[in-house]
Amino acid sequence: MIERAKPALAVDLCGIRLRTPLVLLSGCVGFGEEYTRVKGFSNRDAGAVCLKGTTLAPRPGNPPHRIYETAEGMLNAIGLQNPGVDRVVEEILPSLDFSETHFFANVSGSTVEEYFEVTRRFDNSPIDAIEINISCPNVKEGGVAFGNDPDMSARVVEACRRATDKPLITKLSPNQTDIAANARRCIEAGTDAFAVINTLMGMAIDVESRAPLIGNNQGGLSGPAIKPVALLKVHQVYQVCRDHAIPIIGQGGVCTAEDALEFLIAGASAVGVGTALFYDPLVCPKINAGILGYLERHGLASVQQITGSLRLNDDFGVACAC
Ligand SMILES: Cc1cc2nc3c(=O)[nH]c(=O)nc-3n(C[C@H](O)[C@H](O)[C@H](O)COP(=O)(O)O)c2cc1C
Repeated sequence: MIERAKPALAVDLCGIRLRTPLVLLSGCVGFGEEYTRVKGFSNRDAGAVCLKGTTLAPRPGNPPHRIYETAEGMLNAIGLQNPGVDRVVEEILPSLDFSETHFFANVSGSTVEEYFEVTRRFDNSPIDAIEINISCPNVKEGGVAFGNDPDMSARVVEACRRATDKPLITKLSPNQTDIAANARRCIEAGTDAFAVINTLMGMAIDVESRAPLIGNNQGGLSGPAIKPVALLKVHQVYQVCRDHAIPIIGQGGVCTAEDALEFLIAGASAVGVGTALFYDPLVCPKINAGILGYLERHGLASVQQITGSLRLNDDFGVACAC
């Protein structure tokens, strides 16, 4: 009798072998050390850890309040607080244990030149891949202003491509009309992968003072509230990526194995976990176990077999919702 191959959690992400398909998301794990003090937490439960958004010069971030809990989610406007790329490369990276997992940088900037320079400095470091954050809604210049304009997105990706041979992951904004068109431009400009999606722009208001509850007035919405939007965006970007074998890190509200499986089925090769860590820092081993159980139940040997396996209902497509 032929023994069925043991299902494996490992996935390939543009040449990097991730032990599990889970990626801990930028801004939700500090610089890789945030949860390592929590008993039972291990970076080994994730295939990769994405560090906080990093700029050329240090940034103090936005005035308080920076976070506000909403129904099934949270608004944040941290404002890319970080110590600047040189300190990250010289002081933080040497303190990380690269035997535990892969570490990705997350690069931000106010100009195309800044994106180039920060990427160039990470190129001379042990970082495994570089995520380009053209979708941060919480800074006045750059960020989502670049990510919502396909021409600017392509210029940023081109500049980062010139700065490094390391894998480039472009993080797309959901706050734009045609995410698939933008993805196409970023592929032409040289991206190796996508992260889909960053937070959705939002606001919360104190009715007594009639002022926004977030110091920055607006913030980025994350958590389970955004999952349906994120799934559709992953599905749309996957239509473009499939023919180019460009992988997607699907993200937005993942809390359970079922959430992760939905993203894989929609077209993701790996799945990000962010806001869920604030509620349960030990959520990753549970998600890993759930994915393994699903593979076993469905007689599948690898996570890759799930990616893009969505069966659309005939005749309706995903075009009209009314
Ligand atoms: C507090 C906080 C800070 C974040 N900071 C960054 C950041 O620096 N760079 C970035 O690309 N995304 C950042 N994000 C977005 C997350 O990486 C992720 O894309 C988003 O929150 C959706 O996933 P989630 O719903 O699982 O959190 C941040 C999110 C939160 C909640």
